[in-house]
Amino acid sequence: MTDFDSKIKSYCELIDAELEKILSRSNCLQQVVFDAMRYSVGAGGKRIRPILLLEFCRVCGGNIKDALPFACAIEMIHTYSLIHDDLPCMDNDDMRRGKPSCHKAFGEANALLAGDALLNLAFETMLCSSSNVDADLKLKAAQTIANYSGVDGMIGGQVIDLQNEGKDISEEILLRLYRDKTAALLRASASAGAILAGADEAKIAAADAYAEKIGIAFQIIDDILDCVGDQSLLGKPIGSDEKNNKKTYVSFHGVEKAKKDAIKLTQEAICALEAFEDKTFLTQLSDFLCTRKM
Ligand code: IPE
Ligand code: IPE
Ligand code: MG
Ligand code: MG
Ligand code: MG
Repeated sequence: MTDFDSKIKSYCELIDAELEKILSRSNCLQQVVFDAMRYSVGAGGKRIRPILLLEFCRVCGGNIKDALPFACAIEMIHTYSLIHDDLPCMDNDDMRRGKPSCHKAFGEANALLAGDALLNLAFETMLCSSSNVDADLKLKAAQTIANYSGVDGMIGGQVIDLQNEGKDISEEILLRLYRDKTAALLRASASAGAILAGADEAKIAAADAYAEKIGIAFQIIDDILDCVGDQSLLGKPIGSDEKNNKKTYVSFHGVEKAKKDAIKLTQEAICALEAFEDKTFLTQLSDFLCTRKM
């Protein structure tokens, strides 16, 4: 196992153990919704957002244990966005993370409520965390996550995405929707990690700029995989964008140019890492995301 692989593994173990603690509950009247939440969170996923949060905290001199509740919160928000994204009223996809989507396993009402519950539990987890970080830094990190997850961020991007199904949008609108629906949660993760470490404004801005570039590249690659990916590796259906008449970067430019542009954005993202002394892992992570098959 390479150093990179073992670092990913140890981050995932830390995150998964904490998520398991947060989500464990038994024998309660609302058990079905806890089961649905644990089902979707526990189904796997690359854990990119919590890893980014912890690593930016670390490279800014913070203690990753103190940032762990925030890392779990961002993964809960991301998972809720996936549960809702798969619903019949949105992308109507039946598979997620290699298993039947939450609404296929638990029904639509429980999937909707499991998503809502994950969002609330994410904020409860951040606001009640008893870590050693100053209260004003925790507040600032939670505000940043709220803003990037909300109507001016991920939710806003999902609205623009759905509103433009079947329409001929401009490339400018397409990039705006990528920035909102996908890059926003990555920006929230990187910025919150830096904030919790007490980083200065220049470092927070560099973390944010890195994640914006990586986020747009991430969505371009998601669109490429939706066309030419391997469903068994991806764990979700391919052809979802075409089925829903979505314009994507691939429908604008074709797979080859999309790949080239994702590489260019990744290189630009890596340049933004200049602000940080220890950038080995983040550089490797950027390359891993650019060449991912899942
Ligand atoms: C999928 O995100 C949704 C997009 C923003 C493209 P990921 O590819 O990070 O999904 P998981 O967490 O690994 O399942
Ligand atoms: C969704 O984009 C981004 C979210 C905010 C969930 P997609 O709809 O392309 O994500 P996948 O392909 O279903 O994971
Ligand atoms: Mg979608
Ligand atoms: Mg989708
Ligand atoms: Mg997709």
